[in-house]
Amino acid sequence: MDDKGEKCKEVRDILVNNKLHTAEGEKDSDEASCSADNNSTSKSLNSSFHDDLSDDENICRSPQKSPVKKIQPARVESALPSDEDFQFKKPKFRKKKFIFHPFVRNSEGVCVPDQDREPVEVTIPEQLAASYGLYIWPSAPVLAWYIWLNQDQFVGKRIIELGAGTALPGLLAAKLGADKVILTDSLRLSHCIQNCEEGVQLNSLSEKVTVQPLTWGRFTSSTLKLRDSIDFVIGSDLFFDPEVFEPLIVTVSWLLDNNPGAKFVCSVQERAADWSIESLLLRWNLLCSVQQPKNFLKGTGINEADLTGNHQIFLLHIWKK
Ligand SMILES: C[S@@+](CC[C@H](N)C(=O)[O-])C[C@H]1O[C@@H](n2cnc3c(N)ncnc32)[C@H](O)[C@@H]1O
Repeated sequence: MDDKGEKCKEVRDILVNNKLHTAEGEKDSDEASCSADNNSTSKSLNSSFHDDLSDDENICRSPQKSPVKKIQPARVESALPSDEDFQFKKPKFRKKKFIFHPFVRNSEGVCVPDQDREPVEVTIPEQLAASYGLYIWPSAPVLAWYIWLNQDQFVGKRIIELGAGTALPGLLAAKLGADKVILTDSLRLSHCIQNCEEGVQLNSLSEKVTVQPLTWGRFTSSTLKLRDSIDFVIGSDLFFDPEVFEPLIVTVSWLLDNNPGAKFVCSVQERAADWSIESLLLRWNLLCSVQQPKNFLKGTGINEADLTGNHQIFLLHIWKK
Protein backbone atom coordinates (compact mmCIF):
# COMPACT_ATOMS: atom_id res chain seq x y z
CA MET A 1 0.00 0.00 0.00
CA ASP A 2 1.41 3.48 -0.85
CA ASP A 3 1.62 6.42 1.60
CA LYS A 4 -1.72 7.74 0.51
CA GLY A 5 -3.32 4.37 1.10
CA GLU A 6 -1.67 4.06 4.49
CA LYS A 7 -2.89 7.48 5.60
CA CYS A 8 -6.38 6.82 4.49
CA LYS A 9 -6.42 3.43 6.07
CA GLU A 10 -5.51 5.10 9.35
CA VAL A 11 -8.37 7.49 9.01
CA ARG A 12 -10.65 4.64 8.12
CA ASP A 13 -9.43 2.71 11.15
CA ILE A 14 -10.23 5.66 13.30
CA LEU A 15 -13.56 6.49 11.77
CA VAL A 16 -14.71 2.97 11.00
CA ASN A 17 -13.11 0.52 13.36
CA ASN A 18 -13.10 2.66 16.43
CA LYS A 19 -9.32 2.27 16.91
CA LEU A 20 -8.43 5.44 18.65
CA HIS A 21 -4.81 4.72 19.52
CA THR A 22 -2.84 4.91 16.28
CA ALA A 23 0.78 4.96 15.29
CA GLU A 24 0.20 8.47 13.94
CA GLY A 25 -1.13 9.54 17.30
CA GLU A 26 2.02 8.25 18.96
CA LYS A 27 4.18 10.07 16.45
CA ASP A 28 2.47 13.29 17.41
CA SER A 29 3.80 13.17 20.94
CA ASP A 30 6.50 15.72 20.08
CA GLU A 31 3.89 18.06 18.79
CA ALA A 32 2.29 17.89 22.19
CA SER A 33 5.41 19.10 23.89
CA CYS A 34 4.34 22.73 24.08
CA SER A 35 1.60 22.39 26.62
CA ALA A 36 0.09 24.24 29.52
CA ASP A 37 0.28 24.24 33.23
CA ASN A 38 -1.73 21.41 34.56
CA ASN A 39 -3.32 22.66 37.69
CA SER A 40 -4.11 26.07 36.44
CA THR A 41 -5.23 24.96 32.99
CA SER A 42 -7.34 22.15 34.29
CA LYS A 43 -8.86 24.51 36.77
CA SER A 44 -9.35 27.10 34.07
CA LEU A 45 -11.54 24.85 32.01
CA ASN A 46 -13.66 23.69 34.87
CA SER A 47 -13.72 26.14 37.67
CA SER A 48 -13.51 29.35 35.71
CA PHE A 49 -16.57 28.50 33.75
CA HIS A 50 -19.42 30.93 34.46
CA ASP A 51 -22.92 30.18 33.46
CA ASP A 52 -25.85 32.58 33.44
CA LEU A 53 -28.45 29.85 33.74
CA SER A 54 -28.39 27.08 36.28
CA ASP A 55 -31.59 25.33 35.15
CA ASP A 56 -30.31 23.62 32.02
CA GLU A 57 -33.20 22.30 29.98
CA ASN A 58 -33.14 19.18 27.86
CA ILE A 59 -31.87 20.22 24.50
CA CYS A 60 -31.42 18.26 21.33
CA ARG A 61 -27.97 16.73 21.60
CA SER A 62 -28.46 13.84 19.22
CA PRO A 63 -27.77 14.02 15.50
CA GLN A 64 -30.46 11.37 15.07
CA LYS A 65 -32.96 14.06 15.94
CA SER A 66 -31.67 16.36 13.24
CA PRO A 67 -34.16 17.62 10.68
CA VAL A 68 -31.52 16.77 8.09
CA LYS A 69 -32.53 13.13 8.43
CA LYS A 70 -36.03 13.73 7.12
CA ILE A 71 -34.95 15.10 3.78
CA GLN A 72 -33.83 13.45 0.52
CA PRO A 73 -30.08 12.77 0.67
CA ALA A 74 -29.56 13.29 -3.10
CA ARG A 75 -30.28 17.03 -2.95
CA VAL A 76 -27.47 17.99 -0.65
CA GLU A 77 -27.92 21.77 -0.56
CA SER A 78 -31.68 21.74 -0.37
CA ALA A 79 -31.40 19.06 2.32
CA LEU A 80 -29.74 21.54 4.62
CA PRO A 81 -32.07 22.75 7.32
CA SER A 82 -33.14 26.35 7.29
CA ASP A 83 -34.53 28.37 10.16
CA GLU A 84 -38.03 27.24 9.14
CA ASP A 85 -37.10 23.59 9.70
CA PHE A 86 -36.65 24.16 13.39
CA GLN A 87 -39.55 24.42 15.77
CA PHE A 88 -38.17 27.11 17.94
CA LYS A 89 -39.11 27.59 21.48
CA LYS A 90 -38.11 31.05 22.54
CA PRO A 91 -34.37 30.45 22.96
CA LYS A 92 -32.86 30.96 26.37
CA PHE A 93 -29.72 33.03 26.23
CA ARG A 94 -26.74 32.41 28.42
CA LYS A 95 -23.05 33.20 28.41
CA LYS A 96 -20.16 30.92 29.24
CA LYS A 97 -16.77 32.29 30.10
CA PHE A 98 -13.61 30.25 29.44
CA ILE A 99 -10.43 31.41 31.15
CA PHE A 100 -7.10 30.11 29.84
CA HIS A 101 -4.15 30.56 32.22
CA PRO A 102 -0.75 31.26 30.64
CA PHE A 103 2.01 28.70 31.03
CA VAL A 104 5.66 28.11 30.25
CA ARG A 105 7.44 24.80 29.80
CA ASN A 106 10.16 23.89 32.26
CA SER A 107 13.26 21.97 31.20
CA GLU A 108 11.40 18.67 31.61
CA GLY A 109 8.60 19.76 29.33
CA VAL A 110 6.16 20.19 32.19
CA CYS A 111 3.91 23.22 32.14
CA VAL A 112 4.15 25.72 34.95
CA PRO A 113 2.11 28.91 35.39
CA ASP A 114 3.45 32.02 33.69
CA GLN A 115 2.82 34.74 36.25
CA ASP A 116 3.98 37.47 33.86
CA ARG A 117 1.06 37.14 31.49
CA GLU A 118 -2.61 37.80 32.03
CA PRO A 119 -5.17 34.99 31.61
CA VAL A 120 -7.03 34.96 28.30
CA GLU A 121 -10.81 35.06 28.61
CA VAL A 122 -13.32 34.13 25.93
CA THR A 123 -17.04 34.66 26.49
CA ILE A 124 -19.35 32.49 24.42
CA PRO A 125 -23.04 33.21 23.89
CA GLU A 126 -25.20 30.09 23.87
CA GLN A 127 -28.88 29.84 22.98
CA LEU A 128 -30.65 26.82 24.35
CA ALA A 129 -32.64 25.77 21.32
CA ALA A 130 -32.72 22.64 19.22
CA SER A 131 -30.09 23.56 16.68
CA TYR A 132 -26.58 22.30 16.09
CA GLY A 133 -24.88 25.66 16.07
CA LEU A 134 -26.34 27.36 19.10
CA TYR A 135 -24.44 25.75 21.93
CA ILE A 136 -20.91 24.52 22.54
CA TRP A 137 -20.35 20.93 21.44
CA PRO A 138 -17.78 18.78 23.29
CA SER A 139 -15.34 19.00 20.36
CA ALA A 140 -15.06 22.78 20.62
CA PRO A 141 -13.06 22.91 23.88
CA VAL A 142 -10.81 20.14 22.49
CA LEU A 143 -9.88 22.24 19.45
CA ALA A 144 -9.64 25.35 21.64
CA TRP A 145 -7.15 23.55 23.89
CA TYR A 146 -5.12 22.43 20.90
CA ILE A 147 -4.96 26.07 19.77
CA TRP A 148 -4.13 27.26 23.29
CA LEU A 149 -1.30 24.73 23.71
CA ASN A 150 0.09 25.41 20.22
CA GLN A 151 -0.60 29.12 20.15
CA ASP A 152 2.70 30.05 18.49
CA GLN A 153 1.46 28.35 15.32
CA PHE A 154 -1.54 30.69 15.14
CA VAL A 155 -0.05 34.07 16.08
CA GLY A 156 -0.07 36.42 13.09
CA LYS A 157 -1.98 33.91 10.97
CA ARG A 158 -5.17 34.28 8.91
CA ILE A 159 -7.80 31.80 10.01
CA ILE A 160 -11.22 30.77 8.79
CA GLU A 161 -13.54 28.72 11.03
CA LEU A 162 -16.13 26.58 9.24
CA GLY A 163 -19.44 25.69 10.90
CA ALA A 164 -18.37 27.95 13.73
CA GLY A 165 -21.66 27.92 15.67
CA THR A 166 -20.61 29.35 19.02
CA ALA A 167 -17.05 29.84 17.67
CA LEU A 168 -14.93 29.17 20.77
CA PRO A 169 -11.81 28.06 18.78
CA GLY A 170 -11.92 31.00 16.34
CA LEU A 171 -12.54 33.59 19.05
CA LEU A 172 -9.71 32.15 21.15
CA ALA A 173 -7.32 32.24 18.16
CA ALA A 174 -8.20 35.90 17.65
CA LYS A 175 -7.51 36.68 21.31
CA LEU A 176 -4.18 34.87 21.10
CA GLY A 177 -2.93 37.11 18.31
CA ALA A 178 -4.14 35.68 15.01
CA ASP A 179 -3.91 38.39 12.38
CA LYS A 180 -7.50 37.97 11.24
CA VAL A 181 -10.26 35.45 11.80
CA ILE A 182 -13.32 34.79 9.65
CA LEU A 183 -16.15 32.97 11.43
CA THR A 184 -18.53 31.21 9.06
CA ASP A 185 -21.71 29.20 9.29
CA SER A 186 -24.44 28.17 6.89
CA LEU A 187 -26.06 30.90 4.83
CA ARG A 188 -29.39 29.28 5.60
CA LEU A 189 -28.97 29.29 9.37
CA SER A 190 -29.18 32.95 10.13
CA HIS A 191 -29.48 32.37 13.86
CA CYS A 192 -25.99 30.76 13.81
CA ILE A 193 -24.56 33.74 11.94
CA GLN A 194 -26.17 36.05 14.50
CA ASN A 195 -24.70 33.97 17.31
CA CYS A 196 -21.22 34.35 15.82
CA GLU A 197 -21.74 38.10 15.59
CA GLU A 198 -22.83 38.15 19.21
CA GLY A 199 -19.59 36.33 20.16
CA VAL A 200 -17.49 38.89 18.31
CA GLN A 201 -19.21 41.76 20.15
CA LEU A 202 -19.05 40.09 23.57
CA ASN A 203 -15.30 39.63 23.18
CA SER A 204 -14.64 43.07 21.65
CA LEU A 205 -13.01 41.51 18.62
CA SER A 206 -14.68 43.37 15.78
CA GLU A 207 -11.36 44.82 14.57
CA LYS A 208 -9.93 41.48 13.59
CA VAL A 209 -12.87 39.05 13.42
CA THR A 210 -15.49 39.10 10.69
CA VAL A 211 -18.54 36.88 10.23
CA GLN A 212 -19.47 35.54 6.83
CA PRO A 213 -22.14 33.07 5.68
CA LEU A 214 -20.51 30.06 4.05
CA THR A 215 -22.53 26.97 3.17
CA TRP A 216 -20.39 23.92 2.48
CA GLY A 217 -20.29 22.89 -1.17
CA ARG A 218 -21.69 26.27 -2.28
CA PHE A 219 -19.53 28.89 -3.95
CA THR A 220 -20.81 32.42 -3.65
CA SER A 221 -18.90 35.52 -4.71
CA SER A 222 -17.77 36.11 -1.12
CA THR A 223 -16.46 32.53 -0.87
CA LEU A 224 -14.58 32.92 -4.15
CA LYS A 225 -12.74 35.91 -2.69
CA LEU A 226 -11.09 33.64 -0.12
CA ARG A 227 -8.02 33.10 -2.31
CA ASP A 228 -4.46 33.61 -1.06
CA SER A 229 -5.81 34.95 2.19
CA ILE A 230 -5.89 32.01 4.61
CA ASP A 231 -3.25 30.09 6.57
CA PHE A 232 -5.49 27.81 8.64
CA VAL A 233 -8.96 26.40 8.12
CA ILE A 234 -10.33 25.23 11.47
CA GLY A 235 -13.55 23.63 12.64
CA SER A 236 -14.98 21.63 15.51
CA ASP A 237 -17.56 18.88 15.22
CA LEU A 238 -18.21 19.34 11.52
CA PHE A 239 -18.43 15.62 10.66
CA PHE A 240 -21.67 15.28 12.59
CA ASP A 241 -23.79 13.76 9.80
CA PRO A 242 -22.64 11.76 6.73
CA GLU A 243 -24.93 13.82 4.51
CA VAL A 244 -22.69 16.86 4.99
CA PHE A 245 -19.33 15.07 4.62
CA GLU A 246 -18.97 15.60 0.88
CA PRO A 247 -20.01 19.26 0.66
CA LEU A 248 -17.74 19.98 3.63
CA ILE A 249 -14.78 18.23 2.00
CA VAL A 250 -15.48 20.04 -1.29
CA THR A 251 -15.25 23.39 0.51
CA VAL A 252 -12.12 22.37 2.44
CA SER A 253 -10.51 21.12 -0.78
CA TRP A 254 -11.26 24.39 -2.58
CA LEU A 255 -9.89 26.48 0.28
CA LEU A 256 -6.68 24.42 0.44
CA ASP A 257 -6.27 24.51 -3.35
CA ASN A 258 -6.63 28.27 -3.41
CA ASN A 259 -4.50 28.99 -0.35
CA PRO A 260 -1.23 27.13 -0.97
CA GLY A 261 0.36 25.88 2.24
CA ALA A 262 -2.85 26.20 4.26
CA LYS A 263 -3.92 23.35 6.54
CA PHE A 264 -7.25 22.22 7.90
CA VAL A 265 -7.31 21.35 11.61
CA CYS A 266 -10.55 20.02 13.03
CA SER A 267 -11.79 18.16 16.06
CA VAL A 268 -14.03 15.19 15.36
CA GLN A 269 -16.49 13.51 17.66
CA GLU A 270 -16.98 9.92 16.62
CA ARG A 271 -20.68 9.16 16.55
CA ALA A 272 -20.99 5.97 14.52
CA ALA A 273 -18.60 3.12 13.78
CA ASP A 274 -19.43 2.91 10.07
CA TRP A 275 -18.91 6.55 9.10
CA SER A 276 -15.83 7.13 6.97
CA ILE A 277 -14.27 9.99 5.00
CA GLU A 278 -11.61 7.81 3.36
CA SER A 279 -13.06 7.83 -0.16
CA LEU A 280 -13.65 11.58 -0.01
CA LEU A 281 -10.07 12.27 0.99
CA LEU A 282 -8.87 10.18 -1.93
CA ARG A 283 -11.27 11.82 -4.39
CA TRP A 284 -10.23 15.33 -3.38
CA ASN A 285 -6.47 14.63 -3.16
CA LEU A 286 -6.25 15.22 0.55
CA LEU A 287 -3.84 13.74 3.08
CA CYS A 288 -4.73 13.35 6.71
CA SER A 289 -3.15 12.56 10.05
CA VAL A 290 -4.85 11.82 13.34
CA GLN A 291 -3.90 13.23 16.71
CA GLN A 292 -5.31 12.09 20.02
CA PRO A 293 -5.94 14.71 22.72
CA LYS A 294 -3.73 12.78 25.14
CA ASN A 295 -0.75 13.53 22.85
CA PHE A 296 -1.14 17.27 22.80
CA LEU A 297 -2.06 17.30 26.49
CA LYS A 298 1.31 15.78 27.48
CA GLY A 299 3.01 17.79 30.18
CA THR A 300 -0.17 19.53 31.22
CA GLY A 301 -1.27 16.84 33.64
CA ILE A 302 -4.78 17.12 32.25
CA ASN A 303 -6.52 13.82 31.61
CA GLU A 304 -7.97 13.36 28.17
CA ALA A 305 -11.34 12.47 29.69
CA ASP A 306 -11.44 15.79 31.58
CA LEU A 307 -11.43 17.50 28.21
CA THR A 308 -13.51 15.11 26.13
CA GLY A 309 -15.99 14.14 28.83
CA ASN A 310 -15.48 10.51 27.74
CA HIS A 311 -16.71 11.24 24.22
CA GLN A 312 -14.51 9.77 21.50
CA ILE A 313 -12.93 12.96 20.19
CA PHE A 314 -9.73 13.35 18.15
CA LEU A 315 -8.08 15.89 15.88
CA LEU A 316 -7.66 15.56 12.14
CA HIS A 317 -4.94 17.49 10.32
CA ILE A 318 -5.78 17.62 6.62
CA TRP A 319 -3.69 19.07 3.79
CA LYS A 320 -3.35 18.89 0.00
CA LYS A 321 -1.09 16.34 -1.66
C1 LIG B 1 -22.36 20.11 15.52
S1 LIG B 1 -22.38 21.83 15.20
C2 LIG B 1 -20.79 22.35 15.77
C3 LIG B 1 -20.81 23.81 16.15
C4 LIG B 1 -19.50 24.32 16.73
N1 LIG B 1 -18.43 24.25 15.75
C5 LIG B 1 -19.13 23.56 17.99
O1 LIG B 1 -18.27 22.66 17.92
O2 LIG B 1 -19.70 23.85 19.04
C6 LIG B 1 -22.21 21.91 13.41
C7 LIG B 1 -22.12 23.33 12.85
O3 LIG B 1 -22.06 23.25 11.44
C8 LIG B 1 -23.00 24.16 10.86
N2 LIG B 1 -23.43 23.60 9.60
C9 LIG B 1 -24.21 22.53 9.39
N3 LIG B 1 -24.39 22.29 8.09
C10 LIG B 1 -23.69 23.25 7.44
C11 LIG B 1 -23.48 23.56 6.06
N4 LIG B 1 -24.01 22.80 5.12
N5 LIG B 1 -22.71 24.60 5.75
C12 LIG B 1 -22.14 25.36 6.72
N6 LIG B 1 -22.30 25.13 8.05
C13 LIG B 1 -23.07 24.09 8.39
C14 LIG B 1 -24.11 24.23 11.89
O4 LIG B 1 -24.89 25.38 11.77
C15 LIG B 1 -23.31 24.18 13.18
O5 LIG B 1 -22.88 25.44 13.58
